[in-house]
Amino acid sequence: MRLEGKHIILGITGSIAAYKAAYLLRGLVKEGAEVQVVMTPAAKEFITPVTMSALSGKPVASEFFAANDGTWHSHVDMGQWADLMLIAPVTAATLGKMAHGIADNLLVTTYMSTKCPVFVAPAMDLDMFRHPSTLKNLDILRSFGNVILEPAEGELASGLHGKGRMQEPEQLVEEVVNFFNSKKKLLNKKVLVTAGPTYEKIDPVRFIGNYSSGKMGFALVEELAEQGAQVVLVAGPVSLQLTHPNIQRIDVQSASEMYEVCLHHFPEMDAAIMCAAVADYRPKQTAAQKMKRQTNEMSINLEATADIAASLGKLKTGRQLLVGFALETNDEEQNALGKLQKKNLDFIVLNSLQDQGAGFGVDTNKITILSKDNNAQVFELKHKTEVAADIVEKLTQELAKL
Ligand code: C5P
Repeated sequence: MRLEGKHIILGITGSIAAYKAAYLLRGLVKEGAEVQVVMTPAAKEFITPVTMSALSGKPVASEFFAANDGTWHSHVDMGQWADLMLIAPVTAATLGKMAHGIADNLLVTTYMSTKCPVFVAPAMDLDMFRHPSTLKNLDILRSFGNVILEPAEGELASGLHGKGRMQEPEQLVEEVVNFFNSKKKLLNKKVLVTAGPTYEKIDPVRFIGNYSSGKMGFALVEELAEQGAQVVLVAGPVSLQLTHPNIQRIDVQSASEMYEVCLHHFPEMDAAIMCAAVADYRPKQTAAQKMKRQTNEMSINLEATADIAASLGKLKTGRQLLVGFALETNDEEQNALGKLQKKNLDFIVLNSLQDQGAGFGVDTNKITILSKDNNAQVFELKHKTEVAADIVEKLTQELAKL
């Protein structure tokens, strides 16, 4: 399913080609898209909203208010929700309204509220299609950045022959799929990501852990999957959820479990991003029973855990990239560069606990990317999803150099 997780608004206007919109909707849904149908009043003369709501699994939006209960159809909410708006078929009348901001129906107001890309598939008789007003309106829409899916030459419903026939539903589905795929920078790449803290058991009820929330790693994993990568996520104990089909999630507790899983998967990977806050030490022994309070002082003997990043750094081939994170409180750049070299990383993402808004639990982060060629890129404080996009962009550039 090539459109899994995508939100599409399918706009339908009053052309005879509206009957093909049912096949188009079926094709989009079959590819995994969630589709909200918006129809102009005239479209409902050609195909019934019942057919379209049955195929999309959602009520069709057509009026500003639902007739029976006065529910407000928010064109603004729909506009925000959508990843793509496809209007197929689009008539000369709707093209004209779109080009000139005549927002007198729900479809045109939704169009004017969207931030997402808009595709239109015109369908009309050849004389209407070649009329200067249609051609001019199409130019205006192009100047807005909208994509015109040109009609084909062929037999028209009027019996005439010429340009004006809407592209077939299967072709339109392919256009939509190609649009989403062409944006993907990491198609067919495999990436391993570690995220979250590790818990090192002291006894059956206690552990050594840390404050890592996993938010940065999970944002990275989402962005990698969104860019088409196949992701293996090795997650320590966190309460975050993911749904993208490109993500294989393996939950672990301790550093040694994380180590085993990473070593197993690394050979097939194109890249690995070590985002987890892995414990450096674990109790030498785990008590079988809950430890009791006895004396005023007690100590636990600790031993070093295996350094996962450094182990992968030793195994890394010339066709693989290894990325680390460094969370520092002092001498940030110097410490991070030391880790980059010691662990044989290609680049390291540094965040300092001295920066406001960076570090554990928060939704923002401020990073500097240090590369093995001594290049430093300093970024602004941003939401972790945007930070993830910056890191994935850097990864994409470095993968292209291999
Ligand atoms: O040395 P330090 O723990 O600060 O290094 C941080 C980097 O090394 C992070 O990328 C972290 O995920 C990774 N690391 C690891 N295994 C460890 C310790 C750290 O993969 N045992």
